[in-house]
Amino acid sequence: MVLSKSHPLVTGVTSESLLVQAYRGIRRERNPIWFMRQAGRSLPEYRALREGVAMLDACLRPEMATEITLQPVIRHGVDAAIFFSDIVIPLRLAGIDVDIVAGVGPVMDSPVRTRNDLDRLRELDLADLSPISQAVGLVVAELGATPLIGFGGAPFTLASYLIEGGPSRELPVTRALMYDDPLLWETILTWVAGVTSQFLRAQVLAGASAIQLFDSWAGRLTIDEYRKFAAPYSRLVMDAVSDLPVARVHFGTMTRDLLQDMYKVGATVIGVDQFTPLDFANEVLGGQVPLQGNIDPKLLTAPWEQLRSHVDEVLALGLAAPAHVVNLGHGVPPDTDPEVLTRLVAYVRGDS
Ligand code: CP3
Repeated sequence: MVLSKSHPLVTGVTSESLLVQAYRGIRRERNPIWFMRQAGRSLPEYRALREGVAMLDACLRPEMATEITLQPVIRHGVDAAIFFSDIVIPLRLAGIDVDIVAGVGPVMDSPVRTRNDLDRLRELDLADLSPISQAVGLVVAELGATPLIGFGGAPFTLASYLIEGGPSRELPVTRALMYDDPLLWETILTWVAGVTSQFLRAQVLAGASAIQLFDSWAGRLTIDEYRKFAAPYSRLVMDAVSDLPVARVHFGTMTRDLLQDMYKVGATVIGVDQFTPLDFANEVLGGQVPLQGNIDPKLLTAPWEQLRSHVDEVLALGLAAPAHVVNLGHGVPPDTDPEVLTRLVAYVRGDS
């Protein structure tokens, strides 16, 4: 066994949780619910704690990351915690000068674009990841029977930040590089796959009970491009964690045409955005794959009756799948009223 004797899936404290069971395809008395980006700016207690601390510094302070991870669990009563961190943390720990600029996203002064830049790509080991392992250990000790989800960015999404130097709609430099210099592309993406795999492994070894791989930008690719330029590297990541006995959720937005391929890289659960109905996703996946999703985040500001009937529809379509983990179709928008999230959790839990 790769996991330690104290891991929550080995002691069994999270094994019977609704989340772990649903991720294994087992339907129980009700569907579990959690939210992507449940930790963060929608919560006043998060904004207070983060005051004066840069985003990535907060991620690397184990006590702070622990408290932020627990905040939405305490407030909303969700069925899982997601580790407070960021997909670019493994890049930062490997020495890349990445920062997160509020309202913009990850930004780098020196993007990686040429062969000369390859000298800057160094490997990560478990010791580099000790702030992560420490924080996960603290979180899991507090969570008890509530499972922690670890996560990472898929190589295509991470590499596009690394190559563009920041968020970009059209990804012009990334596209030019992948078509013009396939060998350099392969080298960069393979490196990214390695560091993001180490990040995921560290979280699971320290106590996470499931993982989610975010490929936020994959939906910008055609299916042929996805197969050629993204999927092989996502597969490297899934392979690198496949010895760990945890569910592997794979999610990206605008991925309706990619779901089968995203599953085939080695996922065990598929996260679905709000533009793809769950019954459609279930059908293209052959009725075999537990699904997660896909409440429209835009409706979080609608009157409760409208939100509730939308949720009823999502729950009804989710019945087609082997099991359904309720979530949003993308992250919680920062201006969300947290009371709406609490109410939504209570509704899905069946509390009145
Ligand atoms: O609650 C959670 O979901 C846990 C933590 C989490 C964060 N980022 C914290 C965060 C997770 C899972 C992520 C993933 C992430 N980060 C993705 C993939 C998911 C997706 O949305 O598609 C991506 C693309 C990133 C990169 C990133 N980090 C962006 C685009 C931004 C937003 C920048 C902005 O201000 O608009 C971030 C910053 C970030 N990551 C915040 C949080 C809570 C907000 C920063 C802050 O509070 O100052």
